[in-house]
Amino acid sequence: MTALTLSTAAAPGLRADAIVIGVAKGAKGPVVAPGAEAVDKAYDGKLAGVLGTLGASGAEGELTKLPAPAGFKAPIVVAVGLGAEPDAKSEEGEGYDAEALRKAAGVAARALAGSKKAAFALPVDGPGAIGAIGEGVLLGAYAFDAYKETSNGSAKAKNGKAPLAEAALLGGKPRDAAHKGALARAVTVGEELNRARDLINTPPNDLDPEAFAAVAQAAAKEHGIKVQVLDEKALAKGGYGGILGVGVGSAATPRLVKLSYTHPKAEKHLAFVGKGITYDSGGISLKPAGHNETMKCDMSGAAAVFAAVVAAARLGLEVRVTGWLALAENMPSGTAVRPGDVLRMYSGKTVEVLNTDAEGRLVLADALWAASQDKPDAIVDVATLTGAMMLALGSRTFGVMSNDDAFRSTVHEAAEEVGEPAWPMPLPEHLRKGMESQVADIANMGERMGGGLVAGLFLREFVGEGITWAHLDIAGPAFNEGGPFGYTPKGGTGSAVRTLVRLAELTASGDLG
Ligand code: BES
Ligand code: MN
Ligand code: ZN
Repeated sequence: MTALTLSTAAAPGLRADAIVIGVAKGAKGPVVAPGAEAVDKAYDGKLAGVLGTLGASGAEGELTKLPAPAGFKAPIVVAVGLGAEPDAKSEEGEGYDAEALRKAAGVAARALAGSKKAAFALPVDGPGAIGAIGEGVLLGAYAFDAYKETSNGSAKAKNGKAPLAEAALLGGKPRDAAHKGALARAVTVGEELNRARDLINTPPNDLDPEAFAAVAQAAAKEHGIKVQVLDEKALAKGGYGGILGVGVGSAATPRLVKLSYTHPKAEKHLAFVGKGITYDSGGISLKPAGHNETMKCDMSGAAAVFAAVVAAARLGLEVRVTGWLALAENMPSGTAVRPGDVLRMYSGKTVEVLNTDAEGRLVLADALWAASQDKPDAIVDVATLTGAMMLALGSRTFGVMSNDDAFRSTVHEAAEEVGEPAWPMPLPEHLRKGMESQVADIANMGERMGGGLVAGLFLREFVGEGITWAHLDIAGPAFNEGGPFGYTPKGGTGSAVRTLVRLAELTASGDLG
């Protein structure tokens, strides 16, 4: 992972491979953002003009490389777009918003792969900017090369360039507690989010439920988190028919992992529940080719929950957070659950499985009911649950459903605050009817239209009476099949980790209501 430092050094004397500066879209062309004054001065104050000549506009995602001015120790200047120049007269003041900084830092960090050290001279007006730039660098520099062996006979080259090794954040105050705190938070969140990405990207032949549980156990031990793992025998004894039913077709047996972090001064208790299908073939209702190649990502919810609990513990948040990882592999076989089977769930309800590809709601139902037994103040589940949510919101926005309108708004605002696009979705009562079963209490499928909402309504039935609950359907943003953008790489994205961490922080500070 990229090493981050705060630096008061001036850009010219800095020994680095590159100096990163910001360029914004002004009314009359590109504008050099604050933080780059020394660089602009060395260009005789004509840097904006030079950038304009090179075709830079300051648009988000844009990157322009130019030779550093004479006398600079670093050889190149990397100018990254920050989007529209903030309006000094607007109510929000003159600062660049955190997400613009995060994205710009991410774009630069990715472009600097192969470099040893870069100095980031982006606009810093306080600790918030330091945190955003730090996160952007760590998330943008991420690369998954665990399975790249050799290139040109050299084992070290790994087919690609190594991630940027070191980033010095200029304008940071190394002795200022708020700046140091913001950087430390960024490092913790960045490391844990990248760990979630690693888990998502790990191929399913190496990450089955047992292996995932072992990773969780090791991390829990390292960070003072209590951990309990129910294996298939314990699940059978406890009556977890949903998790068992989904896992019974696979040679790799299912697990339910409970991670408990409790600060001694904790007053509130949050439970996070993650869908952890380590591979979703669809089961007997098999997915066709073209729909199964990326289904190792179907444990992204569990990865997010795992990362968020570890981050909460590392940050020492004054809260109790319980994470539930519902882990199973959904495979077709002679022992697999059939369409038409009825499962007896942990809650005691019976479910007729009409489509074995609607497996996420089955494992979540058991984990939601288990989480409810502790009577937490709120439960948030995270799941790559439905293709329908992807159709509705696209591949970058997750849907937020809840049994409580105020809590749904809280979750939505927390997501927006940390730079995760999210949108509130309803749970229309009339859709419940479509899940009525001839033989059981409920079927695992309903109307096709509004399938994401149907899934949400199914989950709601397994939340304990009176417990505030929200459901994040991250099927769209969990896995990036397109090219990298901002600080988001191809593959596993770590969607929802930052929203969950923010919710834990808000709960700790008593701001959750
Ligand atoms: N894991 C999938 C949903 C999914 C699809 C996630 C695409 C990420 C990308 C889920 O288990 C699933 O198969 N859902 C079905 C439900 C249907 C059978 C009711 C779906 O969305 O088609
Ligand atoms: Mn499925
Ligand atoms: Zn699935």
